[in-house]
Amino acid sequence: METGITRDGAIELLRTHNKEPFHLQHALTVEAVMRYMANELGFQDEADFWAMAGLLHDLDFEEYPEQHCIACVQMMRDAGITEELIHAVCSHGYGLGSDVEPEHQMEKVLYATDELTGLIGAAAKMRPSRSCTDMELQSLKKKYKDKKFAAGCSRDVIARGAGMLEWELDDLLTKTLAAMAATEDTIRQEMQEMGI
Ligand SMILES: [Fe+2]
Repeated sequence: METGITRDGAIELLRTHNKEPFHLQHALTVEAVMRYMANELGFQDEADFWAMAGLLHDLDFEEYPEQHCIACVQMMRDAGITEELIHAVCSHGYGLGSDVEPEHQMEKVLYATDELTGLIGAAAKMRPSRSCTDMELQSLKKKYKDKKFAAGCSRDVIARGAGMLEWELDDLLTKTLAAMAATEDTIRQEMQEMGI
């Protein structure tokens, strides 16, 4: 699976279209979660592709929130990105403005984890440690069930994603929490290096 772009090229493309620190952090987080999941689920050979789909998945969101998963197509084609990666990126907005359905396991993982990383990130910020490394599944489940908490993170999308993967919700929460806990320091360091 080819991406058609190097990681440096993708970071440059991302930073051309994303200025908000929160959006850049989200991109790096989903990239790290996707790489972790590829390795966890036996897709080691495709880990770079999975990670790239995570890094670029919200490329157009900051500039074109109304054309999310649509405006990005031209941006990515102009950057030489493969149609395979474009499909992956667009599929995470399936039913929410995009009619590209997640097909590949990687696309289903992206769909299921994207909103969930936002929820876990928000829950981490509430903790004394400001980290998810000491977060228990039970405490995350409480936040998940509290519809007022991080209301922008759609529980419907998360549940639909778990359904696509045929995973129990607890399983999705456990794996995503573990992925974020394992990669939190790296992302913090990357953000610093990028001067964000
Ligand atoms: Fe996202």
